[in-house]
Amino acid sequence: MPLRLGWPFLRREFPAASLANPTRPLALRLGVNIDHVATLRNARGGREPDTLRAAHVVLKAGGDSITAHLREDRRHITDADIARLKAEVPLPLNMEMAATDEMVAIALKTKPHAVCIVPERRQELTTEGGLNVIAARKTLPAMVQRLNDAGIQVALFIDPDRAQVEATRDVGAPALELHTGEYCNKSGAAQQHELVRLVEASAFAAQIGLEVHAGHGLTVHNVGPVARIAQCVELNIGHAIVAEAVFIGLDAAVRQMRAAMDAGRPGSAKP
Ligand code: PXP
Repeated sequence: MPLRLGWPFLRREFPAASLANPTRPLALRLGVNIDHVATLRNARGGREPDTLRAAHVVLKAGGDSITAHLREDRRHITDADIARLKAEVPLPLNMEMAATDEMVAIALKTKPHAVCIVPERRQELTTEGGLNVIAARKTLPAMVQRLNDAGIQVALFIDPDRAQVEATRDVGAPALELHTGEYCNKSGAAQQHELVRLVEASAFAAQIGLEVHAGHGLTVHNVGPVARIAQCVELNIGHAIVAEAVFIGLDAAVRQMRAAMDAGRPGSAKP
């Protein structure tokens, strides 16, 4: 039976078997994380740069979705950003959030296309390490079900670890985002080792029916091998794109990342 992936607007269906063992390249979506546009705006407390304007540039440049992390401390993206991005941007919104009742309530009210549940500690600079789904086996299922029932695709942000992948399936999430931070932070043989972990976790996740996303720390220089992971259908990338936008503009930075992904997996851009 064909498996409909979680982004109905794309109207793409893949035979279930092709996810585990694709014979031709699956489409690879680029979700652009615009948290740092908000970081810059908040530095002066005004309205510029506007996250909505950034989202429209991403749309024009060929991005497939907007990713925004509503942190508990609201250090960058605000509740108003989330509401405006959902209401005024014709791109799917992927809301990153902690597994708290407050965030679930906001997601149920806003109805983004997807949520990615991430671990959150206030002191961290960014999301450090994946969610421990095994430890949250008792609390996550009810949360995931409420979001699933509302038609919101749920992904769990996890390290490329087989037991965490299995736990993701067990708590009822249809998708996962593999944390690429360790791969990005390392070099040489250590980086290759991390890449193998990502490849193996992706193959296993697809084999047990999960949709595979990846992200964190990706740049035009390191994205190729991750884009090549056959089962992965979405990359979420923020910092490198917004950083490069300072020099070449956001439109060009998004296109540059898309080109680097396409070089890694030819034929994966949307038609
Ligand atoms: N995916 C998740 C779950 C994240 O938490 C982040 C960082 O907010 C990203 C992707 C994007 O990471 P980066 O900004 O390093 O590209």
